[in-house]
Amino acid sequence: MKLGFLASHNGSNMQAIIEACKTGALQATPVVVISNNAVSGALARAGRESIPHYHLSLKTHPTPELLDQAILDALIAHRVDMVILAGYMKKLGVKTLTRFDGAILNIHPALLPKFGGQGMYGIHVHEAVLAAGEKETGVTIHLVTEEYDSGAIIGQEKVPVLPDDTPQTLQERVLKTEHAFFPRILDRIRCGEIAIPGYRTMNPVT
Ligand code: GRF
Repeated sequence: MKLGFLASHNGSNMQAIIEACKTGALQATPVVVISNNAVSGALARAGRESIPHYHLSLKTHPTPELLDQAILDALIAHRVDMVILAGYMKKLGVKTLTRFDGAILNIHPALLPKFGGQGMYGIHVHEAVLAAGEKETGVTIHLVTEEYDSGAIIGQEKVPVLPDDTPQTLQERVLKTEHAFFPRILDRIRCGEIAIPGYRTMNPVT
């Protein structure tokens, strides 16, 4: 499994997946990292890990179509077969979505379909969970489509909301769960335990 990452900010989920690849907990290879943010933690991490990395954005490519093509070209050039959105704050273009249909995963820090969609990112998600008085929240990994947070759900893990939680403490607890959960889901896809339409495993689920 060759992993291509798109990430806009810190890249801690990406790092957790890279670590799992290093220990062998996840039998996969990170092959490319793309960010729309030239000064993202994700690109810095990729540099430290000697993974090919690119800043691709409307600053480097003047139109959405050219940017879409550049992202697609980078993924293909590095022979990616699974695309990971790890805190990527932009929408993918139609060419990339079509070529990797069924093989693009996103992680969301709540139990979708609740607390998803436009504006539901970062600390806003956890603020909304607390404001709604939820007793539990969690992590969702889902396939990526043209709409935010709306593709088929591949896996969810619950996280308790504690009485004295602030948005920040809740975010920390959820993020910890994300770091453990994403590599596990990827390995279950790799070994064929979870089937997704765009990834051909060596051990198909019958
Ligand atoms: C995570 O909370 C993830 O669920 C969301 O964006 C955040 C990215 O964090 N999509 P990081 O960049 O992986 O640290």
